[in-house]
Amino acid sequence: MDAVPPPGEEPPGPEPLTTDEVARYVVAAAVWAPSVHNSQPWRFTARGQQISLFADAGRQLRIADPDGREMMISCGAALFTARLALRSLGFLPDTCLLPDPGQPLLVAQVSWRRRAARTEFEQELFGQIRQRRTHRGGFDLVPLPPGLLAALREGAARYGAMLRVVADDGRRAALAAAVETAEHAQQLDGERVRELARWATAPGSARADGVPPTSYPARAEHTDPDFPGRDFAHGSGWGLPPASSVPPFRSAGVVALLTTARDHPADWINAGQALQRILLTASTCGVAVALHTQPLELGWLRDSIRTRLSDGAYPQLVLRFGAVIQAAASVRRPPEDVLSESGSEDTHIRAE
Ligand SMILES: Cc1cc2nc3c(=O)[nH]c(=O)nc-3n(C[C@H](O)[C@H](O)[C@H](O)COP(=O)(O)O)c2cc1C
Repeated sequence: MDAVPPPGEEPPGPEPLTTDEVARYVVAAAVWAPSVHNSQPWRFTARGQQISLFADAGRQLRIADPDGREMMISCGAALFTARLALRSLGFLPDTCLLPDPGQPLLVAQVSWRRRAARTEFEQELFGQIRQRRTHRGGFDLVPLPPGLLAALREGAARYGAMLRVVADDGRRAALAAAVETAEHAQQLDGERVRELARWATAPGSARADGVPPTSYPARAEHTDPDFPGRDFAHGSGWGLPPASSVPPFRSAGVVALLTTARDHPADWINAGQALQRILLTASTCGVAVALHTQPLELGWLRDSIRTRLSDGAYPQLVLRFGAVIQAAASVRRPPEDVLSESGSEDTHIRAE
């Protein structure tokens, strides 16, 4: 087990890994996927050359995310990361999404039997799993590398998702206004404020989940148009102090919507896979991404964005891309907390 390197490092040399070691290596990478409020709403079981990924409904945001859409997007991001970890070992993952209608929380089963040389691109993405961090605030006024947006669009399309850049000033302003309206409404809703507070951890907290003050600015950075972040600090003054090198004017960056043509759990999982591919690809070019889901948690605002800004497709995330000097840090539960051997709960899983 000790032979297994943390993600971001080279897998061990000539000695083949045992199936247990592969499972642990894969889960150690997958936990670094992004998740709403860093709730890490997943658990994994392993049996032989197969890993099952379950959504952990005990970690679902009951108020903000009653349908489990964001929980499933988060699990989709973990699924993409797990598959990428298998590729880093030279395995070809076989993935079965939502394999059992009787177990809606069983997100996917991934097995590895066939091999194929990993590509340079896969290895580059793999190297970003632990480096990548969610950005919260404005960006430097630097253009994105040429070709990046096309690569991100193509990556999203592989999962049936569409990355729509909102370039027009009027539409950007409308999207920013939706984020702002949602943020204000949510700050006035006691139940939502209490739910968010449960995931916003205090400085020095020993918790391995939730959003730590090392991951957001103490003083909100305003942009034009303004895309306000979530109020994780809820008036406590927590957060990172402003870096002296940060210029006074910060750009909102390139604004985009990640959408799907339909809005079922499989679409949410695939949106999560697309999201993680996008985030890691951007990270390979030193581009950071800010995520906003405040307006998508209010049905009427989500509908308005769908009809006015995404041609009727279902918005799954609002994203902003740009350059930053990144200082944010996050936390994760260790793989042993989320990985168990397949037990009695797996009796419904099909034998292959
Ligand atoms: C479905 C989903 C929704 C998210 N919504 C927001 C959001 O509205 N605001 C925000 O600051 N971060 C959002 N995030 C980012 C998470 O807070 C972040 O992934 C988590 O705190 C872990 O930090 P890391 O991404 O830096 O590793 C979202 C992530 C996911 C997967």
